[in-house]
Amino acid sequence: MNFKINKILNKKNKSKIVCLTAYSKNIAQIIDKHVDIVLVGDSLGSVLYDFKTTRKVNLKMMIEHTKSVRVGVTKSLLVIDLPYNTYRNKSEALRNSKKAIKDTKCDAVKIEGGIRVKNIVSHLVKNKIPVLGHIGITPQTTKGKFKSKGKNEIEKRKLIKDARALEESGAFGIVLECIYGDISKIITKLVKIPTIGIGASIHCDGQVLVTDDILGLTNAKTKFVKKYIDIKKVINSAVTKFKNEVKTGKYPKKKYSY
Ligand code: KIV
Repeated sequence: MNFKINKILNKKNKSKIVCLTAYSKNIAQIIDKHVDIVLVGDSLGSVLYDFKTTRKVNLKMMIEHTKSVRVGVTKSLLVIDLPYNTYRNKSEALRNSKKAIKDTKCDAVKIEGGIRVKNIVSHLVKNKIPVLGHIGITPQTTKGKFKSKGKNEIEKRKLIKDARALEESGAFGIVLECIYGDISKIITKLVKIPTIGIGASIHCDGQVLVTDDILGLTNAKTKFVKKYIDIKKVINSAVTKFKNEVKTGKYPKKKYSY
């Protein structure tokens, strides 16, 4: 097995797994030093293109962004999201995963779903494609408003079955999106593979967030998003200074001219 995936598996119960998204080289290069996993998420649809749903993201877009991210990632495990309608059956999933890995040199694919995609995950793993699962809120197939999962017994049982199905099919980890803490805790204890939470409490083996959200580049208001810096302010200040210096003739002085 890929040694980077082994490293992730070995962190279970030892050290928290850190995962962030990247959609291009410059951000990827910065976060690569700090994280275990860089995810090229199909969240790029809403973050970069203002799509109302990730269903509008296609494989070509994911591949082009991942090629750029690949340039900036040397140390972390690089995972690409397979977008909507690219893994409807085993052969489609395998064909598209192979293409994504061949074109981008990424290490693994992420697909959404639990029991529903069990046979697809098994087929990919049998064909040496490392798979990261994703359950809870699954934006590609959720219609209407996103609601956290695991509130009632039916949802709890479904989440546990989904997690078990992914583990049995050979996924190397599971993203838990917007799941109540008590059920994340149960799932994390139950499965031997690491859980990576997003809005799924402290009980997961790791955490993932969208980098643009934590930097303050988006206007995300979701409860679980913590904004660590208002980078828009920093950019605004630099751009204002540049504009003023151009207008007043302060830039470029001799130092910046040939
Ligand atoms: O698309 C994405 O960025 C994701 C993460 C937020 C888990 O799936």
